[in-house]
Amino acid sequence: MASTMRHYCSSNLIVLLLLLPLQFYSGKSELQLNHYAQSCPRAEEIIKEQVIKLYSKHGNTAVSWVRNLFHDCIVTSCDASLLLETVNGIESEKASQRSFGMRNFKYVNTIKQALESECHSTVSCADIVALSARDGIVMLGGPRIEMKTGRKDCKESYRAVVEDFIPDHNDSISLVLSRFQSIGIDVEGTVALLGSHSVGRVHCVNLVQRIYPTIDPTLDPDYAVYLKRRCPTPDPDPHAVQYARNDNETPMILDNNYYKNLLRHKGLLIVDQQLTSDPLTAPYVEKMAADNAYFHDQFSRAVLLLSENNPLTGDQGEIRKDCRYVNRN
Ligand code: HEM
Ligand SMILES: *[C@@H]1O[C@H](CO)[C@@H](O)[C@H](O)[C@H]1NC(C)=O
Repeated sequence: MASTMRHYCSSNLIVLLLLLPLQFYSGKSELQLNHYAQSCPRAEEIIKEQVIKLYSKHGNTAVSWVRNLFHDCIVTSCDASLLLETVNGIESEKASQRSFGMRNFKYVNTIKQALESECHSTVSCADIVALSARDGIVMLGGPRIEMKTGRKDCKESYRAVVEDFIPDHNDSISLVLSRFQSIGIDVEGTVALLGSHSVGRVHCVNLVQRIYPTIDPTLDPDYAVYLKRRCPTPDPDPHAVQYARNDNETPMILDNNYYKNLLRHKGLLIVDQQLTSDPLTAPYVEKMAADNAYFHDQFSRAVLLLSENNPLTGDQGEIRKDCRYVNRN
């Protein structure tokens, strides 16, 4: 027995030694700080300039960049799959019900064009998704986050995975936690990421269940009145722009008011409000409501983990010329 074990171990070691050099040949590399230092020294500057410029014209672009990071990175990897259009019958992730309400995609192209005019085919759309979120977070009063770069773009969309994997507005917290855990984000980090719902809006289709036919008993009654005013019918036309703001007091600031609202029973989505009732998440809601700096620290940590989920690097993937389409060779 002992000798077979030894035999196993040594043959494993030989296999390992044989495989090691493959790491170098497979073109797999890591994300790194300032990946474009040589190839496009102003890449990060250009993205930041564009994010600031777009924010000054359309403030909600910054909000979109944050949601883009979530929807792109949680599905398979941070690979800009989200940005692909429907081509040859392969449906865009943007067409999924889960992507409802996503906006400002055309301004991703604005950022890409600014990069292309200075450094042709050099900066990936996946890095644009990551860095625009990073810079958008700063515009929204959130923390500054140092992010690595070198992500490559994928060559396919994963619409079915989006539907399967991105939680819905009314899913349970245990499902939400397990999805984030599977990409290495713990409970504390997940609670912090949901603090993104401190900014932006929710369309009535995603919240009418809480007010019709009866009012969800976990809702603050005055807040329910506000929601009924914003969403006067139980069957809103999904094309009508009827929505409620995530945070009425500081709707464009990424702050801990989100958690204060949850403690006042003014969570907008079912998933939001459940953070206060689940014993795993409730303590973090209390802590984040009490301490904005702590929220920002945890938010930064979790955004980094999300942004580094399973990236394509080195020889994998490609650098798209147009973020909406896979390159034609
Ligand atoms: C995991 C559970 C999550 C669920 C179920 C969820 C669901 C939703 C829903 C239903 C909306 C409203 C869409 C609409 O009606 O227009 C929304 C908005 C938003 N979500 Fe999430 N989300 C989750 C997590 C996250 C995370 C982790 C982030 C970012 C890191 C994020 C960022 C945003 C942002 C910024 C908005 C506002 C978008 C806008 O106003 O354009 N969400 N989310
Ligand atoms: C969640 O809401 C959708 C509509 O947005 C509905 O089709 C689905 O049945 C709901 N799921 C649960 C678990 O209530």
